[in-house]
Amino acid sequence: MSTLLDIRNLTVRIDLPGGPVFPVRDVSLSIGPGETVGLVGESGCGKTLTCLSVMGLQGRRVATEGGGIAFQGAVLDPRSREDRRRRARGMGMIFQNPMTGLNPVRTIGWQVAEAYRIRTGADRRTGAARAVELLDLVGIPEPRRRARDYPHQISGGQQQRAMIAMAIAGNPSLLVADEPTTALDVTVQAQILDLLSRLQREIGMGILFVTHDLGLVAEVADRVAVMYAGRVAEIAAAGELFSRPRHPYTKGLLNSLPFLDDEIDRLKPIDGTVPPLTALPTGCAFAPRCPRAVGICRRAVPETEGQDGGLVACHRPLLAETEAA
Ligand SMILES: Nc1ncnc2c1ncn2[C@@H]1O[C@H](COP(=O)(O)OP(=O)(O)OP(=O)(O)O)[C@@H](O)[C@H]1O
Ligand code: SF4
Ligand SMILES: [Mg+2]
Repeated sequence: MSTLLDIRNLTVRIDLPGGPVFPVRDVSLSIGPGETVGLVGESGCGKTLTCLSVMGLQGRRVATEGGGIAFQGAVLDPRSREDRRRRARGMGMIFQNPMTGLNPVRTIGWQVAEAYRIRTGADRRTGAARAVELLDLVGIPEPRRRARDYPHQISGGQQQRAMIAMAIAGNPSLLVADEPTTALDVTVQAQILDLLSRLQREIGMGILFVTHDLGLVAEVADRVAVMYAGRVAEIAAAGELFSRPRHPYTKGLLNSLPFLDDEIDRLKPIDGTVPPLTALPTGCAFAPRCPRAVGICRRAVPETEGQDGGLVACHRPLLAETEAA
């Protein structure tokens, strides 16, 4: 499959008063056209910062320390105006917090129309008409009236839908969806997922789908990347990952899932907590919580073994099906 997005060895640095921290480290991940890649991991593991880096929206305080991001075959230069335009035309993002993605002083209709116009070059009248259609498409009732509302005048669920309308306006090649359906009820969530998969079929859109919900990822993703403390722990085809996890952290996540096991009392949350960015252990960051940890794990960061289709970063990955079970 040709590559739509290719993130190579991305490292992100944030300068805090006590010194720099590296919330995303050496992350490599690719997405093909029409492919959905799920990105999962506990809160704070670097999912949103990875998404924002892809979009070039990480903000001034957040520096890209190393690595590169290629989109449709060409490496993006964050300082190039033309590359910023390529991103704006070719990528859409659904933000985890709708208020991050919506401008409080512009109407919903104006914002969706503007996103459409940037991607397609349409005139104002066409943009405004298309905005109403898009608001309708994402399930906002009375879209013509809502188009005249400001973000604070509509509910959180409707803000989320308006942001989805903005993100998909003009059919971007890549959709970065950061917890896209968290604020929505189950029925609307199903409608939005249907809409995304239809768009994906029609225009071959690639999707980076971030979620805490492993059940949802099992439904939507072709491949899944698992992050832990800023690094990719494992990437695998969704079926492989759920049936034969290779990284002990992935296995721990799956063990804490009710849908894989009807005997609730056998569910096991992973012991311990994620280490803070300011006090990451040397070696494997998962070692303090890992039942398989040995001496080398505490001394050396594990190398990533394998290709993008299936890789694991662990000194002692689970190999046989019996080990993973
Ligand atoms: N602007 C910032 N300044 C300081 N620290 C930040 C900033 N943005 C993110 N961080 C820290 O970087 C780490 C990664 O954050 P990120 O938002 O990417 O996590 P996440 O995986 O998206 O978590 P969640 O599942 O809660 O959304 C966290 O420890 C977070 O506190
Ligand atoms: S490298 Fe060692 S500590 Fe880290 S996940 Fe693998 S076995 Fe566990
Ligand atoms: Mg996040």
